[in-house]
Amino acid sequence: MLLFLIILTPQADALANKPFIRKLRGVIPANYPLSLPWYEDGLNFSCTGCGKCCKVDGDVWLAPEEVPPITQHLGLNLSEFRSNYIKAEITPSDGNEEESWMCLKRDEGACVFLGKDNRCSIYDHRPVQCRTYPFWPSLLSEEAAWLEEAVLPDEVTIDEGSSERHWSPELGGCEGIAVTTTNEIKEGEASDSDDEQESTLFKEKRLKQK
Ligand SMILES: *[C@@H]1O[C@H](CO)[C@@H](O)[C@H](O)[C@H]1NC(C)=O
Ligand SMILES: *[C@@H]1O[C@H](CO)[C@@H](O)[C@H](O)[C@H]1NC(C)=O
Repeated sequence: MLLFLIILTPQADALANKPFIRKLRGVIPANYPLSLPWYEDGLNFSCTGCGKCCKVDGDVWLAPEEVPPITQHLGLNLSEFRSNYIKAEITPSDGNEEESWMCLKRDEGACVFLGKDNRCSIYDHRPVQCRTYPFWPSLLSEEAAWLEEAVLPDEVTIDEGSSERHWSPELGGCEGIAVTTTNEIKEGEASDSDDEQESTLFKEKRLKQK
């Protein structure tokens, strides 16, 4: 038992502050096929409350089980809810409307539930689609997709030649995703190591507000 402790202790100290999967990396053979996601160091995102994700020119779908909590919250029966807030529906072939997926209407270029204060008026009951943005599989599948989703706040000017962009209803994007620009990696200084390049890319940049 004593021997066991002596052997484990130095390593345990070194591993104490590492995320779980890194700890595993530290104790399993190096050639074991354990793959880490590209975002193993985490992702920098915080909602700025800009409301832009609710103004994207796209559809928000409610799963059948998401409908009753919303109708209850609004104090409406299903037919009132349908006529006020739903623009399309997909009903299963057996015709059971309780199993329908429903698509929310839009109102003046935004989700019908986005309030004048730029807040979701059904926030506690908002659809999973909204609740999980921007951590969608499509955006997490690869680093490029995540980086592409980042947009600058309107008041920040874009340097000439920059690949950064502002939000638009068609292209969408999220200004709460904090990334550095690839142009911060100076030309000719590109690192041989992918790892080094990645950490430069993800070094947080506080965007200079004008
Ligand atoms: C839903 O509520 C409206 C308004 O109160 C009422 O006219 C309608 O009959 C109700 N529909 C159903 C299916 O209960
Ligand atoms: C996120 O931001 C924090 C604080 O600014 C920084 O220390 C960290 O390295 C960033 N993480 C990533 C993955 O960019």
